[in-house]
Amino acid sequence: MSIHDKLDTLEKLRQESELGGGPDRIKKQHEKGKLTARERLDLLLDPDSFVELDRFVTHRSTDFGLDKQKVLGDGVVTGYGLIDGRLVYVFAQDFTVFGGSLAEAHAEKICKIMDMAVRNGAPVIGLNDSGGARIQEGVVSLGGYADIFLRNTMASGVVPQISAILGPCAGGAVYSPAITDFVYMVRGTSYMFVTGPNVVKTVTHEEVTAEELGGADTHGEVSGVAHFVHDSEAECLTGIRQLVGYIPSNNLDGAPSKRSEDPASRRDEDLLTVVPDNPNKPYDMLDVIRRVVDDGEILQVHEGYARNIIVAFARLGGHSVGIVANQPAVLAGVLDSAASLKGARFIRFCDAFNIPLVTFEDVPGFLPGIEQEHGGIIKHGAKLLYAYCEATVPKLTLITRKAYGGAYDVMSSKHVGGDFNLGWPTAEIAVMGPKGAVEILFRREIAAAEDPEAKLAELEADYREKFAHPYHAAARGYLDDIIDPRDTRPRLISALETLLTKRAKMPAKKHGNIPL
Ligand code: HXC
Repeated sequence: MSIHDKLDTLEKLRQESELGGGPDRIKKQHEKGKLTARERLDLLLDPDSFVELDRFVTHRSTDFGLDKQKVLGDGVVTGYGLIDGRLVYVFAQDFTVFGGSLAEAHAEKICKIMDMAVRNGAPVIGLNDSGGARIQEGVVSLGGYADIFLRNTMASGVVPQISAILGPCAGGAVYSPAITDFVYMVRGTSYMFVTGPNVVKTVTHEEVTAEELGGADTHGEVSGVAHFVHDSEAECLTGIRQLVGYIPSNNLDGAPSKRSEDPASRRDEDLLTVVPDNPNKPYDMLDVIRRVVDDGEILQVHEGYARNIIVAFARLGGHSVGIVANQPAVLAGVLDSAASLKGARFIRFCDAFNIPLVTFEDVPGFLPGIEQEHGGIIKHGAKLLYAYCEATVPKLTLITRKAYGGAYDVMSSKHVGGDFNLGWPTAEIAVMGPKGAVEILFRREIAAAEDPEAKLAELEADYREKFAHPYHAAARGYLDDIIDPRDTRPRLISALETLLTKRAKMPAKKHGNIPL
């Protein structure tokens, strides 16, 4: 056989592998509104940058007639490619081959690229679309999942791990995406659950659709399992590209910086009027954040979940930052269990990957109530506190209005290692709000007054004058400065640049014990 004949054979095999489960199953995949594994990789990666590995791998099983059904690639396309010129490792499950089910060889391919990603310091992006453990291969399928779970855990905090759920993801298979840093879902075509609607019906007699039980909006808004929810696969894959632009390739690198035409010295007149004169009136913290960051651009994470807190990536003076912000427009920006979890998870990602944290604070405290207490607000709130305390990346804090009680301490205060803490003149830093405080301190006087309402108002005004301002905190150095709101952007950028060389040492330990 000449080299040309051999090349022809190679080309034939390559073409065969590109077809996965064959044209009929590809057609079915398209009819379901889904793309194929290779079409997805084309949208995810820079044009012509994908290099496939292990396309000739097949399964080794002979049970249930599998020896007659070998498909090149074994139902997963793996390799590496570029996003905006930066290296990423990828795997895309191919639903047209055994329903994308995972077994020995399929798992080995995924493990191989995960190992390469860790060795070479590049993110891993997994596109999941699978019927779960390949039933015919039995326990080796389960072993394959566990091999991946272990690698997900070992890679956590070393390289960013991103999962897109683009079809079914059920049973124990959910736990690989769940360990990764970011989970993307698509409305209408993706779902995740530990047990599906049929099992739920048998066990609890509840009737629920797959979409209601574990669809994109359920996980984006109710459970918080999904960090990003999109309307189409194309939008989802573009979203992943955008996220990669904000994060470093590994835990030893800095995040990529991006030059902006937005001047670092830009003042913003509108910041004078964002916070209403009436301290009980809501406003949208996004209006503050967008006026401060480069070009007003942010990428919200967990946008639909626990909307009383905002977590987002943005840039300041070209540097990637992680924003954590109370949102006074939702539940007055109070901290509850969900908001605490959302904040803590994001802070730990940023800290693991050297992304400075900028906190915008307007928080009336933790949410009271039986549901919150019984739901573990103590341990969940402690997660947020722990995450802030533990984070050694630069921490900048701006108090726009309320910073009350324990929430003041938690939200990146000087006391938990805030590096640069600023307040607007509208900041109110106190043990609690005026009304609550005077009701406790002057209960008897108010009850005995001729006009209790008037007495309360008078005492509140007095308290407000004494405590509802930033000057006591600044007098102690708990704030580094009180600034004109219009100067917020230049002041934060200047502070951030002093902190880019920050060095912080933690006591030696195996690992801490975050209150889970
Ligand atoms: C082998 C599978 C498969 C599986 C699907 N297929 N799931 N083959 N093992 N787990 C095959 C089908 O036989 C079919 O083959 C093709 O994939 C497409 O499947 P369809 O059923 O036609 O597709 P659809 O109607 O879209 O339904 C998709 C589905 C369904 C909802 C995922 O296939 C399904 O319920 N599959 C079984 C899911 C499951 O119970 N998995 C095990 C979960 S336990 P043909 O040849 O007809 O095209 C688990 C544990 C993980 O995963 C443990 C980790 C610790």
